[in-house]
Amino acid sequence: MSSSGGPRRVFLETYGCQMNVADSELIGGVLRRHGWTRADDPADADVLLLNTCAIRENAEERVVGRLGELMRFKNARPGVQLGLLGCMASHHREALLDRAPWLDVIVGPDGYRDLPRLLEEAGDPRIEIRLDRGETYADLVPDHAPGPRAWITVMRGCDRFCTFCVVPDPRGRERSLPLEAVLAQVESVAESGRREVVFLGQTVNAWRADGLGFGDLLRRTARVEGIERIRFTSPHPSDFTEALIAAIAEEPKVMPYVHLPLQSASDPVLAAMRRDYTSDQYRAILGRLRAAVPGLAVSTDLIAGFPGETEADFQRSLDFLDEAAFDFAYLFKYSAREGTRAARFAETVDEAEKGRRLRALIDRQEEISLDKHRARISQEVRVLVEGPARRPVGCVFGKSEDFKTVILPGEGLAPGDVARVRIAAATSHTLLAAGVTSRRAPSLGAPEADEIRHLPA
Ligand code: 5AD
Ligand code: SF4
Repeated sequence: MSSSGGPRRVFLETYGCQMNVADSELIGGVLRRHGWTRADDPADADVLLLNTCAIRENAEERVVGRLGELMRFKNARPGVQLGLLGCMASHHREALLDRAPWLDVIVGPDGYRDLPRLLEEAGDPRIEIRLDRGETYADLVPDHAPGPRAWITVMRGCDRFCTFCVVPDPRGRERSLPLEAVLAQVESVAESGRREVVFLGQTVNAWRADGLGFGDLLRRTARVEGIERIRFTSPHPSDFTEALIAAIAEEPKVMPYVHLPLQSASDPVLAAMRRDYTSDQYRAILGRLRAAVPGLAVSTDLIAGFPGETEADFQRSLDFLDEAAFDFAYLFKYSAREGTRAARFAETVDEAEKGRRLRALIDRQEEISLDKHRARISQEVRVLVEGPARRPVGCVFGKSEDFKTVILPGEGLAPGDVARVRIAAATSHTLLAAGVTSRRAPSLGAPEADEIRHLPA
């Protein structure tokens, strides 16, 4: 503990999307350079930090529950600080100052540079929200988690203001990291032995800097030696230019998988959401991508029960699942978010009906995913090994080029190896493989889990 004069220890827990995970890696780097060490157990820490998410109501409820638990540790020992970081901190900035005076620091997604100073200054709640100042953290080096994949934030914020989405409020306006800053990070993760980079941004394909677009960034990244796989999330359908589609199609290192958030397949609902495309325009983008990239895997996001969504609107989304045959889908019940435009729309779909619609979407997509996965049986795939699988014992897991989780016999395989395997069985979420021929990689740690958390776009 600090009172004993040793290094200060921080417990940092992350909620929400992959960008929050990447932000926590950045915070970890900032604090380490200021002499802080990490604590895995809140009981051992001098500072307890939650990096939070505001996207849906249940995301916030989890954080509120956790804050209550962490208060015990703060109350048990004098001097322990408790801080709220991320989107909830930023979105509820005013209310928090009144209602949670026991928070020592409240820091939004653009204030992490100042975190060491705020913690050292201890006193009244320290608040650092800083929106719209163009913060990109371009010069800061994150502490990347172990494993063969590194997440690199290339743009932050969002200018689109979809009516349901809270993100533009806590995360501010869109801004891109300069090309050289991104490439320096890619080179540094390649030197560490990692093989895959995933570019992150709320509308990642809106990245532009130095007169270049996102397709150029992918092409430049493909030239970095050591990097074998390039991915990105989450793109906005309207930002798929011909140049970007060509880069995905032509660069072998850019992996054949895109997340293409649809949100609804009904044109009136899309208009009310201000999604900036119609269902036909979305169809056309999907068609262009699939025509250009053979074997492309595609996932999507859909919201059930948006204000005004009729049974017929909902059926369009349900039918679109069949038509588009997505590899998988993230499916949500609409949840009104304070401060968004849709929060002022009258809710016309009650909770029970939202639940029924969500269930129907999930059931339909599960069948489609299972069919798609079964079609892969007896095919060969190349897997980048990440670490031990939870089960079966002795197996490892990794991702195929088209981003399916594959479980394979682990003998002789380590994180970072690329294994060529034949698929023997499938569930709606995983492929199971037999018959491994592998290539060894330099020694890398294993990541903690195979969970990927995705971003809005
Ligand atoms: N209610 C329900 N789902 C939402 N999403 C974003 N905001 C809301 C909301 N208010 C979903 C969108 C987005 C994904 C990350 O979360 O589908 O793409
Ligand atoms: Fe921006 Fe995506 Fe939210 Fe729309 S859904 S406002 S594009 S972050």
